[in-house]
Parts: sequence; C-alpha cells; structure tokens
Amino acid sequence: MEMRAVILVVLGLVWLCEGKFVVEMNKLRVSSPDSLKGTYECAIGNFGVPDYGGSMAGAVVYPHTNQDACGSFRDFNISFSSRPRGLPTFLLADRGGCFFTSKAWNAQTAGAAAVLVADDRTGPLITMDMPDNDTAAVYLPNITIPSVLINRSLADDIIKSLAGKEMVNVYLDWIESLPHPDDRVEYEFWTSSNDECGLKCESQMKFVHDFKGAAQILEQKGYTQFTPHYITWYCPDDYRSTKQCESQCINHGRYCAPDPEKDFSEGYQGKNVVVQNLREACFFRVANESGKPWLWWDFVTDFSVRCPMKDKKYNKDCADRVIRSLGADVKKIEECVGDTEADVDNPILSSEQDAQIGVGSRGDVTILPTLVINNRQYRGKLDRRAVLKAICSGFQETTEPAICLNGDIQTNQCLDGNGGCWEDKATNVTACRDTFRGRVCECPTVQGTKFVGDGYTHCEASGPLHCTINNGGCWKEIRDNQTYSACIEGSTSGCKCPSGFKGDGLNCEDVDECKEKLYCQCPECKCKDKWGGFDCSCSSGLLYIREHDTCIRKDGIAGSGWRTFWLTVLGIAAFGTGGYLVYKYRLRRYMDSEIRAIMAQYMPLDDNHGGYMPVSGGHGEAPGQAHHGDI
Ligand SMILES: *[C@@H]1O[C@H](CO)[C@@H](O)[C@H](O)[C@H]1NC(C)=O
Ligand SMILES: *[C@@H]1O[C@H](CO)[C@@H](O)[C@H](O)[C@H]1NC(C)=O
Ligand SMILES: *[C@@H]1O[C@H](CO)[C@@H](O)[C@H](O)[C@H]1NC(C)=O
Ligand SMILES: *[C@@H]1O[C@H](CO)[C@@H](O)[C@H](O)[C@H]1NC(C)=O
Ligand SMILES: *[C@@H]1O[C@H](CO)[C@@H](O)[C@H](O)[C@H]1NC(C)=O
Ligand SMILES: *[C@@H]1O[C@H](CO)[C@@H](O)[C@H](O)[C@H]1NC(C)=O
Ligand SMILES: *[C@@H]1O[C@H](CO)[C@@H](O)[C@H](O)[C@H]1NC(C)=O
Repeated sequence: MEMRAVILVVLGLVWLCEGKFVVEMNKLRVSSPDSLKGTYECAIGNFGVPDYGGSMAGAVVYPHTNQDACGSFRDFNISFSSRPRGLPTFLLADRGGCFFTSKAWNAQTAGAAAVLVADDRTGPLITMDMPDNDTAAVYLPNITIPSVLINRSLADDIIKSLAGKEMVNVYLDWIESLPHPDDRVEYEFWTSSNDECGLKCESQMKFVHDFKGAAQILEQKGYTQFTPHYITWYCPDDYRSTKQCESQCINHGRYCAPDPEKDFSEGYQGKNVVVQNLREACFFRVANESGKPWLWWDFVTDFSVRCPMKDKKYNKDCADRVIRSLGADVKKIEECVGDTEADVDNPILSSEQDAQIGVGSRGDVTILPTLVINNRQYRGKLDRRAVLKAICSGFQETTEPAICLNGDIQTNQCLDGNGGCWEDKATNVTACRDTFRGRVCECPTVQGTKFVGDGYTHCEASGPLHCTINNGGCWKEIRDNQTYSACIEGSTSGCKCPSGFKGDGLNCEDVDECKEKLYCQCPECKCKDKWGGFDCSCSSGLLYIREHDTCIRKDGIAGSGWRTFWLTVLGIAAFGTGGYLVYKYRLRRYMDSEIRAIMAQYMPLDDNHGGYMPVSGGHGEAPGQAHHGDI
C-alpha cells in the first residue's frame, strides 16, 4: 500500500503543481444549413490520423440506432460508405458507453471518414485519449480516420437539423492546428528508454524505428531542429530515504522514474531507467555539439535492439558499446551523466524538469510519449506518415522540403562508416541495409549462404557452403603455392586451425615443431621449421624415416633391428637373383609372404599421412609435404 502511495505522489507531483494540460483544437466549419453556418472549435483526439495542415469535407450522419457507436454497425446492417462522387460520411456519435477508440473503430469499419463525438457534459472540451487496454490495442494501430470532440450544444443543433431532413455539410480543418511561421520546424519528442511497459513501449519504439530515416534527413538538411526530452519525477523530502525512493531515484531523490515492472524486488528499477534516460539526453547533447544531432536516433534504436531489458543487457557496458559503434565519445557522455549517487543537482535533468512545465500555448507534458511541434502538442497516432505530415504542416507554405511532397526517402546511411554495422571489407559483405526507415544492421544472405550474428559486431557464414564465402570467416593463408585454411569443410560453421598451426581459427600461426620439441629430436636429427610443417635431416650418411621420426644408416647400422632388416633385404636380393629358378618355381609364394611381412614391419604400407593436411585452392586435396627427409 505504501509503495503505491509513493508512486502516486512521485508521479503526481509535477502535474498537481501546475495542471496545465492543453487541449489541442482544430476547427469545424459548417457550410450548410445556413442556420448553423459558422466555425466551431473541436478537440483533436489522441489517436487516429488527424489531417494536420489539411482539411476534409463531409456530410454528417447521426444513426437512428447504435447512437453511441459502441456496437459494430455491421450488426445493425448499417454502412456509411459514401456513394461515388458523394461526400464522405462523418459519423456523429454520443460520448459514453465505451472507449473513444472503440467508437472510432466501429465508425471506420462501417465506412465513415471521420467521427464527431458529441460531448455529454458541459464545461471545456477534453482530449480524447487512447485507453491502456489489451482489447483496444488490437485495433488501435489500424485506426486511420480522425476523431474530434464537439460540444453538446453544437451536437444538439446538428441533430435537430438532421431530424428536419436538412443536409449538414461540414469541413474539418487542421490548417491552423500547428503554427507554421517559418521555414524551419522545431520539434521535441518526450520519450523514455523503458522498454518493458507493454504495448505502449512497443508502439513507441516502433515509431522511433519507423520515423528515424525521415527525422535524420530533415535534420541533416537543416529543415528541422529536433530535441529529445525525458520526463522525471522527484521524491518528496519525507520519503527520500525509503526503499521505494532509493530504488526509483538517483541523486538522492531528485530524479525518479517508475519501476519498469512495478515490482521493486525484481528486474530493473526505476533508477536504471533514469540513468539510461540521462545517458540518452547526454548523448544528444554531445552529438549536437559535434554537429550531428541526428545520431540520437541511431543511438536509441540501436540501444533498444542491442540492450533490451528482457536480455538483461539494459546497462552501461552495453550502452557504451553502442556509443562507440556510432563513433561518439564515451568519456564526454560519462562526464555529462556525472555521479548519480551524489547529493547534487544534475544540470541536464534539472533543465529537463523545467522543460516539462508548459510555456505559453504548449501546456505541461504529462503523457508519454508526447510530440511537440512548433511548441504545440501533437495529437493523434504516432505513425511515420501521420507525424511527417504534422511536421510538414509546421513549415510556412511553399517552404516545405521535398520529403513533405513525396514522403518517400532513401537514407544512404550505409555509405557513411557502414552505418556502424558489421562488415567484411575484404569481400564487401555487409550487414548494413538501407530502408525507408533508415539503416538497419542485419546479417545478410550472400549467394545462398546465410550469415548469422548480431549484425553490429559479428556475422558469420553458416551452412554447408560457408567455406566458399570469405572462407567462412575463418583464417586462411597462401604461401609458396600452398594454402592452409581453418574452415571446417563439411560442417555448417566453425573454424579450427589445421594441424601444423595453432590459434582460435580466426587467427592461426605456425607451430615451430623444432622449438616445441614435437618432432625430429633424435641425436642425429637436424630440425628446420617450415611454414605449416618442418624439415628434418640427419647427419651425414643417415636417412630420416618420418614414420618413426628417427634417423637410420643408409647402410643399415642404426640398431640391431635395422641391421637385420637390411641384411635380410640384401640377402633376399642376392638369394633372389642367384636362385631365380628356385625362387620362380618353388619358393615364390613363401618368399612373397615373407617379404611382405618384413616390409610391413618396417615400412607401414598404409601411410596415415601424419595429420598435416594442407588445403590447396579450397578443395581439400592434399599434395602432402614436399619432403621431410633428404632421401
Ligand atoms: C459550444 O461551442 C460554441 C461555439 O464553439 C460556444 O459558443 C458555446 O458556448 C459552447 N457551449 C458550451 C456549453 O460550452
Ligand atoms: C440484416 O440483414 C440480414 C439480411 O440482409 C437480415 O437477415 C438481418 O435480420 C438484418 N439484421 C438487422 C438487425 O436488421
Ligand atoms: C478492456 O476493455 C474491455 C471492454 O471494455 C473489457 O472487457 C476488458 O476487461 C478490458 N481489459 C483490460 C485488460 O482492462
Ligand atoms: C490491422 O491491420 C493489420 C495489417 O494491416 C492486420 O493484419 C490486422 O488484422 C488488422 N487488425 C484488425 C483488428 O483489423
Ligand atoms: C543543439 O545545437 C544547436 C546549434 O548548435 C543549438 O541551437 C541548440 O540549442 C542545441 N540543443 C541542445 C539541446 O543543446
Ligand atoms: C568492394 O566494393 C568496392 C566499391 O563498390 C569496389 O571498389 C571493390 O573492388 C569491391 N571489393 C571486392 C573485393 O569486391
Ligand atoms: C607456383 O605455381 C606456379 C604454377 O602452378 C609456378 O609457376 C610457380 O613457380 C609456383 N611458385 C612457387 C613459389 O612454387
């Protein structure tokens, strides 16, 4: 119970002090009947797609049943689809009975082009907001019609005219909903790095990913000046030393964020979110100082992909890796973040808290996320096209950039430092891909071979053909017409240094068999290391026998076994020559088997090639060592 109370106090403070939430308005112009002619104010709903900068004409319909639009019109056999060349239908629906979003969805599915919700109470109009409800979340992203709230007295007048069989024709007009004084639009995005608040966080992150490309182009060309902002709360003095405040706040209760899972005992805590938010704000400052404020979009999107809470990577190390990959200065950002445990103000977060309080027509920022364009709060769905349209409506007429006119963009961000993605310069294989949403880092598929990895620091060819592409990412070297490779043919991935080499497979180096005393160590042996193997020679008159790794005399006095061997061989030769007839006719079979037995004993007939398998031309054919002894 106490925990809840503190959250409420912490959450409520700024709002209670000021409470200056501004209801953003657009205009409703009635063109007929004459009795209603005029311009009325209505409040823009915070979902659907308001037509910022534009206007729509329509004919109002008030259904005879399902007047609150809480049920599906299909169940009542009602359709609002306009006839060809007829005016679009604007559905007038009563407030109450269900979510505003539900009315809009029912109207849209029945073919209406806009919804006018008739307020059911006197007093100022409110902003119709979207509910935090899983059922609504299913259709919420699909609402594309605008919704406005109109006051009861206007609604009653319209209903009266309709009942008298009069056409009620109106324009919904958002032309003046955003100021458009000059050729640059200033806009702010109030956001949070918290990625575990369910659908709301997901749709916010989706927007950031989708909008990034457009945002960066607008910023680079000087059409916009963008500033990200982060809401924090503070802990009342009396609560500062409670566990709740300590887990949700930094700098002794000065800056707080609600616990991501609303559970203080597990997962990440509110203060982790504040610190990351601060880091993102600092990243923006540092990037802005270096003249590249648009890098903020890369930082937050990359951070959300590479360092999510669910993977337990929502931390400084991961953030620093992202910062470095974008070429920003980790030290400067650390300085800006400062000591979050100290009992001091943080200048960045203090100025963010000041900015939360509304100035002039803007009002306090209390909804997350909130977009503020030319100092007015944007209402409607956070969707790339809708937001781009709203921003475009903030340019003085005729000063809009081309992107406002065609809406399609190429970002070409991969050309600049490969967009911070993984690449293999040797083979031109890159994980950077240009999309209309800005660049993404994704391991590619090249010639049917899939690369797997995180796309940022690491991609690796995978599959049976992986050695054909960049040698599977493994070490490979050619010297003196000999190729050695660490790619394991026949497997789907992995690298292993071939024998004669040591290392992790990405880098291999020659083993010095002589120095490491692996071979060629007999007293008469003279060892000489060679790339990928070794040469062994024996002092004069001796012969190196590789299989036994030893030297023997050419005349056969290296031991009694050898003496016997050579004597036997010579004996057999002499005997064989001299007693040719005997050999031929009587002893042939016996001698054959005897020779074979003796030969087999000293010269293994199956050469188990000693394990040194150089690979030539990537085909795995082994030409064998040139020579190991001086025969
Ligand atoms: C409704 O709006 C009209 C015009 O916008 C205004 O004159 C009227 O006072 C409003 N009524 C209420 C009850 O707010
Ligand atoms: C809607 O129309 C169908 C046939 O067109 C009819 O069977 C059904 O009863 C109608 N429903 C209502 C509520 O009028
Ligand atoms: C969402 O709204 C519907 C309809 O009002 C309701 O039945 C449902 O219980 C709500 N779900 C949640 C999770 O609040
Ligand atoms: C919303 O749109 C998506 C794709 O455009 C579609 O797959 C989905 O079924 C729609 N949802 C509803 C509730 O109509
Ligand atoms: C970003 O840089 C511009 C121009 O250098 C400056 O006018 C603006 O105030 C800076 N924004 C922030 C938040 O520091
Ligand atoms: C990689 O691409 C660049 C530019 O397109 C080209 O100049 C270079 O030769 C390519 N290198 C390889 C190995 O294909
Ligand atoms: C490598 O092979 C080529 C032809 O196969 C030959 O001309 C060349 O002399 C060889 N080089 C060495 C160092 O053996």
